[in-house]
Amino acid sequence: MMDWTDRHCRFFHRQISHHAQLYTEMVTANAVRFGDRKKLLDYDAVEHPLVLQLGGSDPAALAEASKIGEDFGYAEINLNVGCPSDRVQGGHFGACLMAEPKLVADCIAAMSKAVKIPVTVKCRIGIDDQDEEQALQNFVETVAQTGCTSFIVHARKAWLQGLSPKENREIPPLNYDRVHRLKKSMPHLKIHLNGGLETMAQATPHLENLDGVMLGRSAYHMPWILNDVDSAIANTVSPCLTRRDAVLAMIPYIDKQIASGLFLHRITRHMLGLYHAQPGGRMWRQSISTESCKTGADSNVILRALEVVEAQAAKQAEAA
Ligand SMILES: Cc1cc2nc3c(=O)[nH]c(=O)nc-3n(C[C@H](O)[C@H](O)[C@H](O)COP(=O)(O)O)c2cc1C
Repeated sequence: MMDWTDRHCRFFHRQISHHAQLYTEMVTANAVRFGDRKKLLDYDAVEHPLVLQLGGSDPAALAEASKIGEDFGYAEINLNVGCPSDRVQGGHFGACLMAEPKLVADCIAAMSKAVKIPVTVKCRIGIDDQDEEQALQNFVETVAQTGCTSFIVHARKAWLQGLSPKENREIPPLNYDRVHRLKKSMPHLKIHLNGGLETMAQATPHLENLDGVMLGRSAYHMPWILNDVDSAIANTVSPCLTRRDAVLAMIPYIDKQIASGLFLHRITRHMLGLYHAQPGGRMWRQSISTESCKTGADSNVILRALEVVEAQAAKQAEAA
């Protein structure tokens, strides 16, 4: 998620779930081709399985960027056909491509030809006044003809005029049934559901008929929900039994990153929601957000915050 997630966030999430597929935020094909590749694409091997999400609509540029992604070791390349922002529309990519299935098919064909790893699509159920039944069916059928077998569908339309990207994640109504019907009509395709899923309890029933679920904002704001993922999808337990385990697992990584010059808050900003709705959760958030920005802040900040949160939890348990 652009401006929210990054490699440090993914490293943290990976401590909580070994099996969740993790995605980069959207990176434009031209940024990959012409930008600072190490900065844009580098990651820690533990983040795998890891997908690089690209934005663009020029088949040759996307093919080149996909190959670069493959050479960096990404497990899969995903094309963004869901972002509604003005900037992205201006660049002629993201959700506006829902109206151009043939162009998307050309992009996916070029990308698939350039790499051996899977190339997948993340899309909406439609845009603007498109018919959600006909247009989505036509879009997926057209793109699938290239050999693309996997689609992540954000189960709401994007309204490209008049709504901000934030509103476009909240106002157009969710239509999970439409995604289920898509799967039913093309059972040979892998269809993943995205949009508005806030807990694994909400998400797992969809797995009975669909091939996957994608969690966005909930995983960011309440990362501990990832603790239920491994049991739900891989029949194994999470690598961390407790939130404390997840914090402690971050210490060596934090120490290494700080030694190489990173500021602590660049990592801890992703950990603020770990104690969401838990005793001491507010103190955890407060303590980390104020202390992490101070000069010389290091992993002791989170160890101290852990002491505070645990003392608070003990106090509440005693009082109960
Ligand atoms: C700040 C922010 C940035 C996002 N950036 C991306 C992005 O780079 N690529 C993408 O496919 N979706 C992006 N999204 C959309 C989410 O991936 C997801 O489709 C959407 O939030 C609905 O799912 P959710 O209800 O689980 O959050 C972003 C969402 C937010 C809140």
